[in-house]
Amino acid sequence: MEYDRFAGVFGVWAATAESTTANRAFYLEAYAHAPEGPVVEMGVGDGRLVIEAARAGRTMHGVEGSGAMLNVCRSRAADAGVLDRLVLIHADFTTFTLPEPAALVTMPYHTMPHLLDRATKLAALRQIHSQLRPGGHFLFDDFIITPSVIDRMREVQLRARYRNAAGQDTLFWVTSIVDEAAQRIEAVTWEDTLDSEGVLLRRQYRPLTFSWQRPEQAEALLREAGFVIEGCWGDFHRTPFDLGSAEEQVWLVRKEGQS
Ligand SMILES: C[S@@+](CC[C@H](N)C(=O)[O-])C[C@H]1O[C@@H](n2cnc3c(N)ncnc32)[C@H](O)[C@@H]1O
Repeated sequence: MEYDRFAGVFGVWAATAESTTANRAFYLEAYAHAPEGPVVEMGVGDGRLVIEAARAGRTMHGVEGSGAMLNVCRSRAADAGVLDRLVLIHADFTTFTLPEPAALVTMPYHTMPHLLDRATKLAALRQIHSQLRPGGHFLFDDFIITPSVIDRMREVQLRARYRNAAGQDTLFWVTSIVDEAAQRIEAVTWEDTLDSEGVLLRRQYRPLTFSWQRPEQAEALLREAGFVIEGCWGDFHRTPFDLGSAEEQVWLVRKEGQS
């Protein structure tokens, strides 16, 4: 998977993203207020959120398909002293199973867009539905793509300048190839490693591929997977969704029945 190669720069990518501060507070609050029972994050990545929740005392389950990301997550959790509060499952979203039905499943930080076609999204949603207990919730976010967002994505952006693990001056760049008809984004990232004179020593490319769904497509898919829609917000401050001003699609849906 792409994330096996991406694991080395995920921390820089997340730390320099526009949405991560707001989504961090939002998901940590959801974890803190979740009812008793398993709370599961789909795509734990480097543990950015689950390690914080575990630090606050919550046992967290995480499903992750990339072995390299899981290694980073385990190592960071061990450093934070909370590895014993994480139940990490190495599996794909379309086939994972949990030891017991979940009270809350989340899929934070534009992870649904990594499921690149409708059939894969539906398979993952059906699997999540099957692993929730009756009345259990699923919470996730998705891009809201507008012409100005596409223009911004197509720019070449210098996202960060830092010293890499070997102490070398490093520039981290990103741009995207956007196919509007296919609703597909190929983010192209690269790191330039420089010597003390500023001469390029090495350039490494790491791609990430995304798709997006319009709100009406997301709603149809969620209903087809069997979910009851509770709401959609336009940002991580729970502003009611409005197509003209939304920055995100943040969906809260439920499996029918009583918890
Ligand atoms: C954008 S990162 C989100 C990481 C973390 N949730 C956060 O908020 O920082 C998406 C993660 O989902 C994982 N992932 C993507 N598609 C997956 C799939 N089909 N099955 C399992 N994991 C997947 C990736 O490996 C990656 O670690």
